[in-house]
Amino acid sequence: MGCLFSCFFFICCVFLPSFAFSGPISTHSISPNFTVSNIQFIDYSGTFLLSPNGTFKATIDAKPLSSYFYFSIVHTASNTTIWSANRNAPMSNSDKLSLTTNGLTITNQAGKVLWSTPPLSSEVSAMQVLETGNLMLVDAKNVTLWESFDYPTDTIVMGQPIPVGKSLESAVTGEDMSVGDYLLQLTDSDVVLQWNRMTYWKLSMDTKAYKNSNGAVSLMLMNGTGLYLLASDESKVVIQVAFTGPSGFRIGKLGFEGRFSISSFVRNKWMLEFAGPVEKCDIPFICGEIGLCTRIPLMAECSCPTKFSSQTNRCMPVDSSLSLPSACNATSTGSQLNSSISYLGLGQDMDYFFNDFREPAKNDINLSVCQDLCSQNCSCLAVFHRNSSGSCYLLENQLGSLISTANSENDRFGYIKVLGNFPPQNPIEQKGNRKHHFPIAGLVLLPSTGFLLLTAFVFLAVQWLWKNRLSKTRTAKLARLNSSSSAELQMISIPGIPRRFDYEELAAATQNFKTQIGRGGFGTVYKGTLTDQTIVAVKKITSSGVQGKKEFLTEISIIGKIHHVNLVRLTGFCARGRQRFLVLEYMNRGSLDSTLFGNGPVLQWQERVDIALGTARGLAYLHGGCEHRIIHCDVKPENILLHGNLQVKISDFGISKLISREQSTIFTTMRGTRGYLAPEWLTSAAISNKVDVYSYGMVLLEIVSGRNNCSLQTCGHITENNDIEGGLSSYSSSSEFRLYYFPLIALEMHERRRYLELADPRLEGGVANEEVEKLVRIALCCVHQDPALRPTMANVVGMLEGELPLGEPRVESLNFLRAYGQRFTETATMEGPSSNVATIATYNSLSYISSQQISGLR
Ligand SMILES: *[C@@H]1O[C@H](CO)[C@@H](O)[C@H](O)[C@H]1NC(C)=O
Ligand SMILES: *[C@@H]1O[C@H](CO)[C@@H](O)[C@H](O)[C@H]1NC(C)=O
Ligand SMILES: *[C@@H]1O[C@H](CO)[C@@H](O)[C@H](O)[C@H]1NC(C)=O
Ligand SMILES: *[C@@H]1O[C@H](CO)[C@@H](O)[C@H](O)[C@H]1NC(C)=O
Ligand SMILES: *[C@@H]1O[C@H](CO)[C@@H](O)[C@H](O)[C@H]1NC(C)=O
Ligand SMILES: *[C@@H]1O[C@H](CO)[C@@H](O)[C@H](O)[C@H]1NC(C)=O
Ligand SMILES: *[C@@H]1O[C@H](CO)[C@@H](O)[C@H](O)[C@H]1NC(C)=O
Ligand SMILES: *[C@@H]1O[C@H](CO)[C@@H](O)[C@H](O)[C@H]1NC(C)=O
Ligand SMILES: *[C@@H]1O[C@H](CO)[C@@H](O)[C@H](O)[C@H]1NC(C)=O
Ligand SMILES: *[C@@H]1O[C@H](CO)[C@@H](O)[C@H](O)[C@H]1NC(C)=O
Repeated sequence: MGCLFSCFFFICCVFLPSFAFSGPISTHSISPNFTVSNIQFIDYSGTFLLSPNGTFKATIDAKPLSSYFYFSIVHTASNTTIWSANRNAPMSNSDKLSLTTNGLTITNQAGKVLWSTPPLSSEVSAMQVLETGNLMLVDAKNVTLWESFDYPTDTIVMGQPIPVGKSLESAVTGEDMSVGDYLLQLTDSDVVLQWNRMTYWKLSMDTKAYKNSNGAVSLMLMNGTGLYLLASDESKVVIQVAFTGPSGFRIGKLGFEGRFSISSFVRNKWMLEFAGPVEKCDIPFICGEIGLCTRIPLMAECSCPTKFSSQTNRCMPVDSSLSLPSACNATSTGSQLNSSISYLGLGQDMDYFFNDFREPAKNDINLSVCQDLCSQNCSCLAVFHRNSSGSCYLLENQLGSLISTANSENDRFGYIKVLGNFPPQNPIEQKGNRKHHFPIAGLVLLPSTGFLLLTAFVFLAVQWLWKNRLSKTRTAKLARLNSSSSAELQMISIPGIPRRFDYEELAAATQNFKTQIGRGGFGTVYKGTLTDQTIVAVKKITSSGVQGKKEFLTEISIIGKIHHVNLVRLTGFCARGRQRFLVLEYMNRGSLDSTLFGNGPVLQWQERVDIALGTARGLAYLHGGCEHRIIHCDVKPENILLHGNLQVKISDFGISKLISREQSTIFTTMRGTRGYLAPEWLTSAAISNKVDVYSYGMVLLEIVSGRNNCSLQTCGHITENNDIEGGLSSYSSSSEFRLYYFPLIALEMHERRRYLELADPRLEGGVANEEVEKLVRIALCCVHQDPALRPTMANVVGMLEGELPLGEPRVESLNFLRAYGQRFTETATMEGPSSNVATIATYNSLSYISSQQISGLR
């Protein structure tokens, strides 16, 4: 049958080239001589060869937004190109592909060869696509002469071996398949990503990669269970990434944006399984040459460093008499320019991706010697110098983007080489000019998502323009506010920033502080109605150490500047004598604790997911999205407010200490609520925004279970062999009261992969195991003891949205939960099961940490 079909096909093509086909014609094997051009086949999407089961097809693939055509192998179900022959020489309408006994060739109308297979050892008798996606040319004895798996493009599929030395090369864009700047290379010890031969990522440093043995790698292979780097005998795994997501057809692709991702095609959708690098700022050219990349949630914020400004989409020296040299080009005789070379310093908070991946060019030299080294070599474009060790790094040939680091201990300073006759005496200090967000849209860049990404791009671009306009006016206003902060408050009334209220106004609005709606560490909250009928929440700050007016104003100006859909907005303030009031957006559904732990209607699963996501977005914005980095320090359900149809907003954020970019991340004031406190509060370790990630993880567990992490339960108990009887989901009528430390149970259930039992029993099965698994795994990653192992809030958002692969909780960094849990239950037993409600309340705050311990800490 196949032969008959191919014979028919052969006849059609050779003898009836202008035959008008009326339906899809394709076959499983093609023999020479055979010729195809896209014109003939465009009517049925170019397919002319199928794998035995039709999983893959060979087609002339047209890119919709360009007139490029590629001879490609496509995964049929997902319409994803896994290999293209002529990626550097796209075909046009008139070009043709022919199979002769000498191999495959693509020629243009003039007969010029655009692409061909190399000379083969014997005559081709057939061309086939295997079920793995491998395109093969075989001879009459069915010996393989040539196969596409030997010539990988930017994609690998399951079962496609990549030997050491082979690489994947990114495309230029989603439309233009020609070779771009990024390379994934298999070395004898690792998989590395490189940009212009400079390494920026290694598989072995990814938290999902496990090193199994120390042998030399000879092969990379992906199958249904993981990505493996195998030693030469192929039975020994050197490094592996185990897949945990649902299985399906998987591909690994080096995207044109410089990120390697593995995705699985499940239920007609691509699901991201693995990606590296995860942080966009770790991609070398994300913000262009010398562009400064600042980490903000799911985007990379690009700006130009001090002393540079954006000119025609590049960062150029502000001093226009200076120019950036190009490597060994304008000046082949570097010495002539010796006198005109100078260096623009970048400041402390910037680093370069490559510095961490190589040895310095020289050690133990001072800055001027380091710069001289660079001046003498025209391919050198910049230096980084570490003062403490005298290490000198030369940046050669091409400059990528800079990374903004908040690390105050960074003592590696960068200097950009510039040419010009008049080295600046007084470099103009111009900070953060023209910030723009580069939405590095989707992470899985596959043809089918192209349109979506385009739409997203347009949307984000519009958003950016809008935001830019807003922030400019806002900054101007704030500048005025700050400059007048020593003046009396009474004078300030600028639209757009928090409004100043008279005490009498607030007293009237709240009917003399009649309706109390909340009470927190910082004061009491009352409901009020302004004269324009707006309902507001008025917070009366009752903290003992009342701030001076100046500090209060500073705080107001910063909190008032923070606008995010998931953060409670400050609309006004009032200061009278020693009294301070904040006027806040009113949230009519109160805080999450009452909704989640209360007796009202049960929150449905999707509502919980939405709350988790909204909270994560708000925190991610606080940590990186605004000018001042803010650590909330008191993330707990009481501070997560709900409104109407489940709008989610975080409150009480600006009141914690502000961490500006210039300041260190070390935080000296002890704040927070026990039960949500990260372990590093109790040690002398530095406090970073990862303390919020920890608290968020604890809250996320409560969102899953619907009850307080440390509470009295009447359900099953842990037996000797550590099995949980009855599970958490059964509220038995047992009279044995037992204190549960839920995070420990979550860990144990995770180890047994029994997630469903962790879900709030009141959901009555309205949730699937894998949905619970997602939140529990994210939560456990957030509560890792080692702050460095916790994801950033931006990563949490990515994981919740499915844009980033789910993290794998590291048991070695979660074992502390066992100790916590034990201390917790021990304390409970001592107190006896008859503890009353008041005692229970104290357990809410992990009672084994004595308050003395806490207050005496910092
Ligand atoms: C295929 O074409 C080549 C010339 O391109 C010719 O020499 C050869 O005889 C042809 N083979 C068949 C089977 O037609
Ligand atoms: C092809 O399809 C047949 C019948 O459905 C099935 O038995 C076989 O395993 C499939 N082969 C592959 C490689 O998927
Ligand atoms: C498959 O993708 C190509 C572009 O790569 C597009 O032209 C074609 O219409 C798609 N086919 C289907 C069935 O979606
Ligand atoms: C040719 O070899 C492939 C595998 O290499 C096999 O699947 C196929 O059945 C063979 N064909 C013939 C005609 O032997
Ligand atoms: C995938 O490859 C690894 C390493 O060779 C092997 O241990 C594992 O069993 C393979 N899995 C499947 C499903 O073939
Ligand atoms: C510099 O390089 C560019 C492209 O790399 C080239 O077009 C130009 O001719 C070169 N200039 C000199 C003076 O070599
Ligand atoms: C640069 O100029 C100085 C003096 O002006 C000279 O000593 C030095 O050798 C020059 N460097 C090179 C590489 O020509
Ligand atoms: C740097 O080191 C060189 C040689 O070691 C020395 O001549 C020079 O004075 C030093 N420069 C500074 C600024 O210390
Ligand atoms: C300049 O640096 C390049 C790259 O490291 C090197 O190959 C070259 O030899 C250097 N040239 C001089 C004159 O030192
Ligand atoms: C580097 O160290 C020297 C002496 O140790 C000091 O004078 C200089 O200020 C330091 N430079 C920077 C940029 O820290």
